[in-house]
Amino acid sequence: MSEQNKFWKSSRRIYRFLIVVCVLALVSGIVIFYLNHDDIDSDENGEKQYTTFSDDDPNRIENGIHVRTGLTDAPGLQETVANCTSCHSAKLVMQNRMSAERWHATIRWMQETQNLWPLGANEAIIVNYLTTNYPPKNKGRRETLVGVDWYELK
Ligand code: HEC
Repeated sequence: MSEQNKFWKSSRRIYRFLIVVCVLALVSGIVIFYLNHDDIDSDENGEKQYTTFSDDDPNRIENGIHVRTGLTDAPGLQETVANCTSCHSAKLVMQNRMSAERWHATIRWMQETQNLWPLGANEAIIVNYLTTNYPPKNKGRRETLVGVDWYELK
């Protein structure tokens, strides 16, 4: 065999080897991709899992609760949702159980300092909704004293 013949034979062998390596890499890449993919969207039984967004009604009520905000379904709910849940969570509203007087004061404070818009006739509806459905609880701590005639200790 001539020197040249030998050279071509070995380069063909290298060429074939490289092709096999490339094909193997491609195939294993595809296999790994699909294995990982199945992992992500199948549950342990191999069932395909799809994320569904069935909550297309933002005002769905379930068991008397407005699902999106957690507020109780009662007269005044829509006014409260529309005016009181766009800046902060409804939880902040629910957890603050206040008297009507303190609600009006809190609303005034938000209007003066937090850009809350004028509520017009809705203010009475909202405060009525809040005091009816989230009445002040009995407090474990006494109220702040008011109208006390304090004097300076000498
Ligand atoms: C324009 C925005 C905005 C709107 C609308 C809004 N608030 Fe607020 N509210 C705020 C901000 C800002 C705070 C302060 C939040 C904080 O301290 O993290 C706040 C605080 C509160 C607090 C806590 C007050 C405290 O003493 O800690 C309550 C309760 C509250 N809001 C109720 C309501 C109610 C009820 C409505 C509907 C009438 C409403 N908010 C609508 C901006 C708003």
